[in-house]
Amino acid sequence: MDTKTQLQQEIRTLSEEKNAIILAHNYQPSEIQEIADYIGDSFGLCQKAQQIETDIIIFCGVRFMAETASILNPDKQVLIPDPSARCPMAAQLPASLIREAKVKHPSVPVVLYVNTTAEAKAEADVICTSSNLCKILEGLDTNPVLFGPDGNMAEYAKNICGYDVIPIPDHGFCHVHVTFSFDPQILKLQQEHPGAKLLVHPECDWSIQSRADLIGSTGQMLEYARNSPAQTFIIATEVDLVTRLRKEMPNKTFLPALQYAVCKSMKKITLEKVKASLLKNQYPITVAAPIAKRARKAIQRMLDITT
Ligand code: 13P
Ligand code: SF4
Repeated sequence: MDTKTQLQQEIRTLSEEKNAIILAHNYQPSEIQEIADYIGDSFGLCQKAQQIETDIIIFCGVRFMAETASILNPDKQVLIPDPSARCPMAAQLPASLIREAKVKHPSVPVVLYVNTTAEAKAEADVICTSSNLCKILEGLDTNPVLFGPDGNMAEYAKNICGYDVIPIPDHGFCHVHVTFSFDPQILKLQQEHPGAKLLVHPECDWSIQSRADLIGSTGQMLEYARNSPAQTFIIATEVDLVTRLRKEMPNKTFLPALQYAVCKSMKKITLEKVKASLLKNQYPITVAAPIAKRARKAIQRMLDITT
């Protein structure tokens, strides 16, 4: 047996002994996807986090995702195998900036992307993910709203959902998804593969979104590919979604729009760290109770609007 398989078996055994569940985001490397009890997009992970019965949640993703699981499960232990796995976009929107925007725009509701810290979420009226922004805006049905941190999703809100948004900060972005804007690779792939469907994450620039057959979350891309009669798909998001798509649909062709669209924060989670996490109960995610209470209200509102 090779070292990877041995480690994976040890993790599965430890996980059962400790009564833990392993949750993983779609951008996790394949060896982590293979040991997960559940793999999903941010919204799927929120929904799954509501139904946990184990004592421990091992969260293979970035910190804001683990924080959300902890906010929804205040009585459970949520562990992240590497505490430095943080989403740089979430760091672009400190809670103080939202408080300033609220003073400038009193009585304008605050809709925040789930890629935010718990402190930021505590300032929000409602949270959204890349799969449900239009539904959330329709649920509020007020114009304008304050929205952050992703500027490309703010464009999506205007162009696709038809709502006016005031972005906070002015130009928030995901450094992985903005790389698609500057690369002629997508056009080249479309020319080489006529008939291929282009699936684009809403964190990409509008110039790419506007050419897409589907603009959606990683989970929505998976669903689209499962249900589409098309054979070939160009995927404009982080490369490890392609890993999952290829594994689950070996008869279809998935082409990453960019090979180097890698979220380094997501790759900080390794099998060795997951094992250490289970053995040493590290690293616990804690959200101060008053922050968690306010953030939970905003997350719950999203879940109520969308389910
Ligand atoms: P999804 O919710 O679409 O999986 O996206 C999360 C994310 O971090 C995108 O960069
Ligand atoms: Fe954050 Fe971008 Fe990584 Fe998603 S891909 S976790 S938005 S840095």
